[in-house]
Amino acid sequence: MSEHKTLSRRDFVKTAGNAAAAVTVLSKLPIASGSNARRRYAIVGTGDRGTGMWGSDLVERYPDLLEFVGLCDSNHKRASVAKTIIGVECPTFTNFSEMLEKSRPDLLMVTTVDAFHSHYIIQALDRGIDVITEKPMVIDEKQCQAVLDAEKRNNRKIVVAFNYRYAPKHQKIKEILLSGEIGRVISVDFSWYLDVVHGADYFRRWHRLKSGGGSLLVHKASHHFDLINWWLGADPVEVSARGGLEVYGKKGPLRSTHCRPCPHKKDCRFYYDLTTSERRMKLYAACEDVDQYHRDGCVFREDIDIYDNMSAIVKYSNAAIMSYSLNAFMPIEGYRVAFNGEKGRLEVRDYERQPFPVEEETEMYVTKSFGQREKITVPNVTAGHGGGDLRLRDLIFRKTELPKYMQLPDSRAGAMSCLTGIAARNSIEQGRLIKIGDLVRI
Ligand SMILES: NC(=O)c1ccc[n+]([C@@H]2O[C@H](COP(=O)([O-])OP(=O)(O)OC[C@H]3O[C@@H](n4cnc5c(N)ncnc54)[C@H](O)[C@@H]3O)[C@@H](O)[C@H]2O)c1
Repeated sequence: MSEHKTLSRRDFVKTAGNAAAAVTVLSKLPIASGSNARRRYAIVGTGDRGTGMWGSDLVERYPDLLEFVGLCDSNHKRASVAKTIIGVECPTFTNFSEMLEKSRPDLLMVTTVDAFHSHYIIQALDRGIDVITEKPMVIDEKQCQAVLDAEKRNNRKIVVAFNYRYAPKHQKIKEILLSGEIGRVISVDFSWYLDVVHGADYFRRWHRLKSGGGSLLVHKASHHFDLINWWLGADPVEVSARGGLEVYGKKGPLRSTHCRPCPHKKDCRFYYDLTTSERRMKLYAACEDVDQYHRDGCVFREDIDIYDNMSAIVKYSNAAIMSYSLNAFMPIEGYRVAFNGEKGRLEVRDYERQPFPVEEETEMYVTKSFGQREKITVPNVTAGHGGGDLRLRDLIFRKTELPKYMQLPDSRAGAMSCLTGIAARNSIEQGRLIKIGDLVRI
């Protein structure tokens, strides 16, 4: 297998379809200022992601480009703790409008609970402020339409922080598919495994409620659906799905409010000791009297209404069909994806964590029909999200050089990834096939 092949413009458009159109629009996005002035940067949602990936890491990496002018969180104590963790002197707020008014940011980072992303994105766009939002962009079709409309009426562009695309191994998959080596992709088998550590963690927090994160089909799978949309260069068209809650929530054998005061500590295999993390004790435990947000919430609470096992069939605009599954109670963490093409198959097994040794984190093979199997050398990067976090931030803030198909994900990508999950959730709830075109006007 040759390394990355250079594609002609014609080949790229032919293969990447809608992704190419998105790139044209995104290249105009003015995230890096281009002048010597630092951008006035504010954050709404000062939890883990806001203080780390989009907080202290930025202070360290881009002091020449960004000036922190405001931090906003519904929990005033957490906003103050965040200010110390990030290491900045800017004011903190609980009232978002007041922050915009007083701090006058020209770039907003949205890292709140998923359900509130659209509320803040729209207010910022309506005031002419550029927005970067964490995924998922929104959690339902109404919010999706509202964000797309706000972007259009203000003639602005937002960036959705799809870091997974920027892991070198995921770029490799994109390049193999673009090279045409396996021909037109006819179907995709995609299974994502969340283990009893990472998977369980979603059931401890706000993600456990559909009203918080839209279910893991939106909160988590929007990463996976974005990868697929981008890899295929196609849009989802219709979705049918099934899901259940079999391990967490009501099905659990015992329960409490959260782990620290729990009388079942010794018997519960999901017991999580928050006190071992100084950072989390400061950011969450020390602030929980304000909002009762327990970072170590019980995974067996009866109010949990999301699924822990989900399967979906998705049909795409290029006629490809994907069978997808997500399980959140596994002994292993990672994924398996295979692209079945006219001329061959690209097969990937990613091992993130498992109770057995593996020789390499990612195994990738191309097998040609009537031909041979070839092992692909995969760049192994251990930094956050397979190296994706670093590269995404450098692309946003330093405008680093990357091939066109690696340009920043826009609202369209944000919408299409969420809508796949929203359609899957609706399909489970309504017991029928859902057409993406019936959900929003794009
Ligand atoms: N791209 C990735 O790989 C990745 C990884 C982790 C999290 N995320 C995303 O980042 C976001 C934050 O996740 P997190 O893990 O930091 O969660 P978190 O719970 O640690 O932080 C969320 C913060 O939002 C605040 N908040 C809640 N409701 C609010 C409201 N109405 N207005 C203002 N603030 C409010 C909370 O007090 C909390 O400080 C989520 O959207 C999540 O999906 C993305």
